[in-house]
Amino acid sequence: MAEAGTQALVLGFETSCDETGIGLVRGRTLLSDALATSMAEHERFGGVVPEIASRAHLEAMVPTVHRALADAGVGLGDVDAVAVTSGPGLTGALLVGVAAAKAYALALGVPLYGVNHLAAHVAVDELEHGRLAEPSIAMLVSGGHSSILLVPDLAQDVQPLGQTIDDAAGEAFDKVARVLDLPFPGGPPIDREALAGDPRAIAFPRGLTGPRDALYDFSFSGLKTAVARWVEAQQRAGTTVSVPDVAASFQEAVVDVLTAKAVRACRDHGVDHLVIGGGVAANSRLRTVAQERCDAAGIVLRVPSRRLCTDNGAMVAALGSRLVEAGVAPSAPDLGADSSLPITTVSV
Ligand code: KG4
Ligand code: ZN
Repeated sequence: MAEAGTQALVLGFETSCDETGIGLVRGRTLLSDALATSMAEHERFGGVVPEIASRAHLEAMVPTVHRALADAGVGLGDVDAVAVTSGPGLTGALLVGVAAAKAYALALGVPLYGVNHLAAHVAVDELEHGRLAEPSIAMLVSGGHSSILLVPDLAQDVQPLGQTIDDAAGEAFDKVARVLDLPFPGGPPIDREALAGDPRAIAFPRGLTGPRDALYDFSFSGLKTAVARWVEAQQRAGTTVSVPDVAASFQEAVVDVLTAKAVRACRDHGVDHLVIGGGVAANSRLRTVAQERCDAAGIVLRVPSRRLCTDNGAMVAALGSRLVEAGVAPSAPDLGADSSLPITTVSV
């Protein structure tokens, strides 16, 4: 256990999708972040296959925990608390992490915190940029979620302002990549292709930006269909499709809507701090445009480094650490997995 005056050492488990992430955090200091991924096993299916992900978590769990401990130079006996993603995510995948975390917490005799994956995507930023200003606006953009949140207190009060009504932003990247014959997951290759393309080449639609549309909700399904139709039409006409131009124009449409709505949420709520998290926050154009628009609006922007934007164990440990610091009660020993855990539930 931590000696008086030292901060708690928190071991975090993340298994909500295809990454087995084990992180160790002391206070707000990142000690290690070990990752195993089953990404390659899903690639030929064009999306994550839940059964394959669960099996991979099971196989990777103990070696990844050992790697995280070795990287941090600590032993299991040094761990003061365990945190685990309880939801949202794939039920079978979540269950592997929850079962493992429970076993470690029980064996070590330390408290267990079941946490919300989305809140953890926000909390991870504290490892690099210090304590989050409260209130902040948070925008979470991943393969499973796209939402704008008002965060008065990251440990216990997170309020949804808006979310996607169909596809998540990352899902749109993944589907458009498929249309363009780019590998899965689609975000990184589209980001790369777009560097050589013209973002104004094709005017793709900006969903839910009309005067009567919900201010902070997103829709990316129409955009994805528009890209697929455009590519089909070019192919039918025998025209060569410029992958960089399509990638850049698609990416611009996503980034334009995301950043405009996030800045709008800050302005409407009188909040001058924005944090962006989730896998899509790794996107280079999103980072650039968000910075430009925040600078223009007098908003302080915080985005974690790319590695910490995608799923990892450090983010779970970071939120666990925040909960320990705030004195939030640990989870009950019968903690379970909740595939649709609402964002308002920061810890279970
Ligand atoms: O947060 P994350 O690792 O897992 C989920 O919780 O979903 O996000 C994965 C998503 C994928 O859809 C992937 O295509 C997207 O993040 N992504 C990106 C980039 N890197 C990852 N999207 C756009 N640009 C990127 N550079
Ligand atoms: Zn995620």
